[in-house]
Amino acid sequence: MTRPRVLSGVQPTGSLHLGNWLGAIRNWVGLQASHDTFFCVVDLHAITVPHDPQRLAEDTLSTAALYLACGIDPDNSTVFVQSQISAHSELCWLLNCVTPLNWLERMIQFKEKAIKQGDNVSVGLLDYPVLMAADILLYDADLVPVGEDQKQHLELARDIAQQRINARFAPRDAKGEPLPLLKVPEPMILREGARVMSLTDGSSKMSKSDPNEGSRINLLDPPETIVKKIKRAKTDPILGLEFGNPERPEADNLLGLYALLSGKGRQAVAAECAQMGWGTFKPLLAEATVEALKPVQQKYQELRADPATLLAVLAQGRQRASAVADQSLSRVRQALGFLGT
Ligand code: TYM
Repeated sequence: MTRPRVLSGVQPTGSLHLGNWLGAIRNWVGLQASHDTFFCVVDLHAITVPHDPQRLAEDTLSTAALYLACGIDPDNSTVFVQSQISAHSELCWLLNCVTPLNWLERMIQFKEKAIKQGDNVSVGLLDYPVLMAADILLYDADLVPVGEDQKQHLELARDIAQQRINARFAPRDAKGEPLPLLKVPEPMILREGARVMSLTDGSSKMSKSDPNEGSRINLLDPPETIVKKIKRAKTDPILGLEFGNPERPEADNLLGLYALLSGKGRQAVAAECAQMGWGTFKPLLAEATVEALKPVQQKYQELRADPATLLAVLAQGRQRASAVADQSLSRVRQALGFLGT
């Protein structure tokens, strides 16, 4: 029996942080045993905002190394770089031509990022969700494990596949029934970790683009930096930590991080910290964070010390991914009526 297919990716922009790990990569790891897993470093997405060409290749390698350091096993998963498979750009163009402009103008992330960019908004930033749809649809993904912030983009990918491609272009069998053209993917958003919030503002999400470094913990932050960032994290004047109090977003966020990073779970930490002051809690959270990241950081250093192995993983990934992507692309090209290649 074929295993259900999974695809996901992270942009190689700056350092990956706890949100990327807890909201996405950590959940990918467990899927490897039961699913056919594809994980790409989405470097074409990284140039939708102004980028530094001196850093792109290095950030791409570092992101791939972090996937492996977090537990992605290249023997079980296909790990690849998006820009090395030209089918992503080509399917994106085909999908562009059937996607209504107002679907893209509605995207929350576009609006947020566009405000930050002022006059300098590129067409690529608007088109970003169509490229993401292409990433997913090329692999006939059943499931896309992501954080909460990607939900709207996944809805869009589903709508493009269903309404704009399958409904219009799917070939028919002898009885006139549509044959599958693009698989309509399901989002996989786990409740815990799906929305890790900023350390300096519990009501906005932890993000790579926040200019304040203190707002996030990067996966490669050394222990002393982690301790310092947690020490400075925003708190409130109330004694005891709790989940779910809308007046106390920082307590909810930091307690949630503690539950995940210590591995103790929500119930146990809610009981442990119910009467605890922030001054006692913060060192506990810092220690749990440092300990949770230690094996990831160690593995990362090993991988970076051996660039040939990492490049070989990506070369193998490229081969496996392109075999799948090329087939889907040619199916869509044919359905849209292009002359064969
Ligand atoms: P990106 O690079 O912004 O984030 C990568 C993954 O991390 C999750 N994430 C978070 N989860 C919880 N809390 C947070 N504060 C937090 N910040 C980020 C994101 O939800 C994401 O799962 N568009 C995507 C990349 C992409 C993609 C794809 C993903 C491109 N093509 C195809 C899946 C399938 C993005 O910008 O992720």
